[in-house]
Order: sequence, then C-alpha cells, then structure tokens
Amino acid sequence: MSKMMKQVLSKPDSLVLVIFGASGDLSKRKLIPSLYQLYKLGKLPERFAVLGLGRTPYADDTFRPHLLENLKKYLDKGEYDEDLAQSFLSCVHYFSMDPQVQEHYFDLKARLEQLDKEIDNPSNYIFYLSTPPSLYAVIPQHLSAYGLNKGYKTDNDPRPIRRIIVEKPFGTDLASAEALTKIYRQYFREEQLYRIDHFLGKETVQDIMALRFANGIFEPLWNRNYIDRIEVTAVENMGIERRGGFYDQTGALRDMVQNHLAQILALIAMEPPVQFNANHFRNEVVKVYQSFRPMTKEEIRENVIRGQYTESDWKGEHHRAYREEDKIAEDSRTETFLAMKLHIDNWRWEGVPFYIRTGKMMPTKVTEIIVHFKPTPHKMFADVNGNSIPNQLVIRIQPDEGIVLKFAAKVPGSGFEVKKVSMNFTYDQLGGLASGDAYSRLLEDSMIGDSTLFTRSDAVETSWRFFDPILKQWEEEQDFPLYGYPAGTWGPKQSEEIFTDESHSWTNPCKNLTNSDIYCEL
Ligand code: BG6
Repeated sequence: MSKMMKQVLSKPDSLVLVIFGASGDLSKRKLIPSLYQLYKLGKLPERFAVLGLGRTPYADDTFRPHLLENLKKYLDKGEYDEDLAQSFLSCVHYFSMDPQVQEHYFDLKARLEQLDKEIDNPSNYIFYLSTPPSLYAVIPQHLSAYGLNKGYKTDNDPRPIRRIIVEKPFGTDLASAEALTKIYRQYFREEQLYRIDHFLGKETVQDIMALRFANGIFEPLWNRNYIDRIEVTAVENMGIERRGGFYDQTGALRDMVQNHLAQILALIAMEPPVQFNANHFRNEVVKVYQSFRPMTKEEIRENVIRGQYTESDWKGEHHRAYREEDKIAEDSRTETFLAMKLHIDNWRWEGVPFYIRTGKMMPTKVTEIIVHFKPTPHKMFADVNGNSIPNQLVIRIQPDEGIVLKFAAKVPGSGFEVKKVSMNFTYDQLGGLASGDAYSRLLEDSMIGDSTLFTRSDAVETSWRFFDPILKQWEEEQDFPLYGYPAGTWGPKQSEEIFTDESHSWTNPCKNLTNSDIYCEL
C-alpha cells in the first residue's frame, strides 16, 4: 500500500453530538442540514442523538418544527425529503441552558445521562462550539467541572470518546489564541480538540492536494523556476447579513484571511507530506506558515490594502454602506475588504509573490486560485496585439468548480498568430460534487476521529504570528488608510498598486469558469 493512502477509520456505534449555540445561524444553515445529509447517506452512528443547547427556551417538540422549516429552506432542491427529515429530527433534542453558568452543566450532565440510557451510549460525546467566540474560554472549564471532558480514545482505550469542535476564529490575535490554547490544554488533549476551518472540508480545496500530488506533470513546474506569481481571490456578493455584532469586532483579516486564505496558501505552497495523515499533513501546513516572510511596518503599509464598502445602487437595488448596517458603529474602521502581497521564504518559492484578496459586497461570489506561469524565455509567437501568452492554471474552488489550463494555440490560417485557449475540467464530468457540503465531511471526520482536516494549535499560532503585526499596526496607526469602495465593485483601486510588476493586475473572475476570457456574467 502506498504511503500516501489514508488509513481507514470507522465511526463509533453510538454518539451524542452536543451543539452549543444550536438556535443560532450556523446550526440551522449548516450543521443540521449537514447532519441530515449524513443521515441520508447512512453515515451517522447506528445509535445517535443530537442535543442542541442554547438560551432560547425551546423544547424538543418546538425545536424540531423550527429545524424542519430550516431544512426545507437551506437544503438544495431535491435533497429534502419530508419523511426522511421527520425521521432524522426524531433523534434531535434540545436543552435550554446558559453556557456561561456553571451550575447549568450539572443539569446538562443529567440530561446527557438520560440520553445515554435511551440510545445505549457509553457516554461518547462530541461537543460542538457554535457560539460567539467570547464563550470559547468558559465552556471547557464548565464541562470539566462535571467531568464531561474526561475521555480519550485510542485503539486499546476503553474510555469513552470525548471530543470538542471549536469554530473559527480561534483567538482574535496571537496572544488570545495562545491563551485559549493554554485553557484547552488544561482540560483536553490536542487529539480531542478539533479546530474547524470549513474551507478544508471543501472537495475542491482538498483537490489541490490531488492535483499536485496525484499527478506527475505539475510538480516539476511547481516552483520559482516556472511560476511567476500566484493570485487567490475569495470574494462574496453579500454583505454582513445579520452578523453585524460579530463582524464589526472581527473584520476580513480575522474572518477570512488568517484562517481560510492561509489554508489555501498552505495547500498551494506546501511540500508533499511524507504520508497523508493528520501529523504529516499538518506538519507541512505549519512549515508554510513558518515561511511567511515577516513584514516591516513600511512593507505592511505598501503591501496590505484594506477597504470598507460604501453605499451604492447596484443591480437595480440600493445598498447601504457598511457603517449604516445594523449593529455597526457609525465611525467603524473595520475592513470588509483586504488585499495583500506576501512572500514565502523557502527554496521553492523564493521571489514568487502571492497576492490574496477577499471582500464582502463584491460583484460576485467566487473563490479562485490562479497560478501564473512565467512567459517563454524567447518570444517567438505573439497574439494579435504582439503580446506573449503566459500559461495559467485556474483552480476554481467555487462555484462552477473545476480547473482550467490556459495556453497558446496557433490561429488557423496564414501567418503565425497565436491565441489563448483552454483545457477545461469541471466537476460535472465526475458526476458533479457529492451532495453534502464541507460541514458534512468535517462532522463525519470528527466522528471517526480523523483530525487531518482540522487545524492544529501550532498552525493557528504560527499563522497568527504572521498576521498579528498587521492588526497591531492598524490599532496603533489611526491614519492607516481604509479605502471606501462602492458596494458591488471589485474593491478599492489602490489594491491594484501592490503588484510588483506594474503591468500585472487582479484577475476579476467571472461566474462562468470556462468562458472566463470571453463572457463575464456577474
Ligand atoms: C465564514 C465567514 O467562515 O466563511 C463568513 O465567517 C464567510 O463571513 C464564509 O461568508 C464564506 O464561506 P463559503 O463557504 O460560503 O465561501
């Protein structure tokens, strides 16, 4: 068996998944629909229950109809089946409690013991923290006050399974991430702790590994000798919706860059892991983060551009400015857009700039990576404008998932003009992406005990070590520019100024992957 092949882990026979913050947005939009998908595919443990927790005073029989409505709303067409949904929801329960109050965990323990009896569960629990990050520090302490953290599973270990899944952001800066890790270390072993970054659960993000390490043709070119620059764009056409309170404290750097975009960079830039398992894979992620070149204050000013959306009329609708959104301070300086150039200091990537960009209220929702290869050393052929056509590999993470290789071909006829053409792969060719989303994959992995696609504490901290000085500088320098950009545009024009070569600029992806050079539908 090849070293890279993954060991097969199996799901436990029984489990209670305890969701803190069960009446919140993430739970109804993602977690419950993803669990329904797993139920549909027969991937949940034989004897399984969900216990939703929160301060909202639901009971089982009021919580279930609420979830049913949301399943109808958030599942893709054709995925919802009334009978199946009803039968899935019969294993979902609700317990009203305040996670800040330690005594409430006494009652929680009693409720869990009752559920254990009902489904014959040897107190295997996974705790999912889908709460505001301010509760991340207290929940493990209160769980441990009643012994609910005790339990660890290895092959020969008879103790129950106890795992804890923590949503991002894990910490709001380096110091708070380190403090949080210290707290978790007191109550849980690293092996019990699953820091979730749902980008790693996306099929297309995982496919970066397959593209690079299951093919022989890309890896020899995947370095400074052949690659000129790499662009990563992860933008959304929505604003902050009802998350004003959270977002104004967070901003694009903490919400998207320190975690999701850093993970994408890690997969693009990493060395091949010795084996595809949690330790080897995550070691390589950390090495990439360790190689991010620290920037001086001056470099941060030059290479990091932040923006905030302003009001605009777009697609026939008026859109409010960020500062006019609910729960946002009138003079907020929180960034809803961030573009930056960074370098990875190692042999493979010396001299290759990485350009990353994210933003809310941009023209479309798209996540895409473009690997720009160097032009041919000698320009023998050119397009109609006399330009050479460097190759590009476009990896579309979402939507219209696929990969496109762009190259030059001779235009038929006299002369020797060349034109850019594409070789396309779309996931439709594999029958489309499997139903279920990133959360289904990650929930399933957490149940079987596979932490490969979860973030390890050293990765969180190493990534913070690089991004933290940027946040500190913003705090210190009140005149650090925050550029406005009208909602529905590609962000402040200053983001174009970070390119090392003035002739380069951002590629604004079209919704439609395969026609991207011809037709742009936004
Ligand atoms: C979340 C962020 O982690 O990722 C959101 O908190 C963002 O602000 C979301 O909208 C984007 O995820 P996806 O999977 O929809 O691209």
